[in-house]
Amino acid sequence: FEVKWDAVAAEKGGYDHFMLKEIDEQPKALRDTLRGRIDESQRKVRLDEVKLTAKELQDIQKIHIVACGTAYHAGLVGKYAIEKLVRIPVEVEVASEFRYRDPIINDKTLVLVISQSGETADTLAALRLGKSSGARVAAITNVVGSSVAREANDVIYTWAGPEIAVASTKAYTTQLLAIYLLAVFMAEKRNTISVQDRVEILQALQMIPEQAAQLVAAKDRAKEVAKGVVDWNSAFFIGRGMDYTVALEGALKLKEISYIHAEAYAAGELKHGTIALIEDGIPVISLLTQPDVYEKTMSNVIEVKARDAKIIAVVNEGDMKAADVADEMITIPKTHPLLTPILSVIPLQLLAYYASILRGNDVDKPRNLAKSVTVE
Ligand code: G6P
Repeated sequence: FEVKWDAVAAEKGGYDHFMLKEIDEQPKALRDTLRGRIDESQRKVRLDEVKLTAKELQDIQKIHIVACGTAYHAGLVGKYAIEKLVRIPVEVEVASEFRYRDPIINDKTLVLVISQSGETADTLAALRLGKSSGARVAAITNVVGSSVAREANDVIYTWAGPEIAVASTKAYTTQLLAIYLLAVFMAEKRNTISVQDRVEILQALQMIPEQAAQLVAAKDRAKEVAKGVVDWNSAFFIGRGMDYTVALEGALKLKEISYIHAEAYAAGELKHGTIALIEDGIPVISLLTQPDVYEKTMSNVIEVKARDAKIIAVVNEGDMKAADVADEMITIPKTHPLLTPILSVIPLQLLAYYASILRGNDVDKPRNLAKSVTVE
């Protein structure tokens, strides 16, 4: 008698794929990443691992966020959040470009690297370039003791747990959470945020894990929407502001695992080129979660609708207008406008997952891709 033990199946905990397991783990990963980091009595962010003092933060004139892949997309959200709350100019760049272009860095610069694995070769090289140029280097990473964690001056860990699927999901949403915490932390130290705004954001952050749970529970909706996308070889993701950064991540997810070519476009830029590619029935995933640019984005949605695109709208709960134009609607729970990316990306992760399954692809190990790229 022989007991067969399949270690991989055991690790998957009853799931067919790591990716779906990891999507489902997001509420817990977010809760773990938040734990102990909001001081309720003082209504402040606590980041004990960040040693940057108020004085040091006052001296910083420029922030460079450097990362690769999905972590780079998290960095783009970071630019919006940090510039809005901290009022320091932020540049976001992919590490393989940053490290070879002689960037202007000095002791008034903060370099923030973001890396799930903490071992990506280009990101590590960017970190070292920052340090050798005299910059302070902070890191957001998921792996304790990784190279990035060891070499950075300040480390904020995401507590997402091991991420096995090549397509990153829970690492991305926890990276966003870490960025928001860091942004509020810096804003408070630099006196660029009112107590009221701070409390509003912190309260909204505390609701995020529960709201993420609602979204992962709404799998059937994403599966339905995926059925309308799988027969296409091309799709578009549009949005403005933070929605544009999520469009980029949604498009990357779809490309990586379903092999459907997807293009993310800043909605206002469509008319300068990509609208030429809109044809009858083509899926246009339209993100409409940002109140200040809602009407502007909506007018772009109407433009592509007029060219017979199929509109899949991602909107805030309670949006009454989008139903008039959308062929499919996906709603996200109401949150602070700065935080919508954590929520709006979840249905897009699920959409990519189901599109990949319906196409019969190897979801967890997409062709040609590696989980961690430790060579140049
Ligand atoms: C690889 C993975 C991506 C990941 C990127 C950065 O290309 O396939 O999913 O976003 O590396 O990885 P890191 O570990 O630095 O976040």
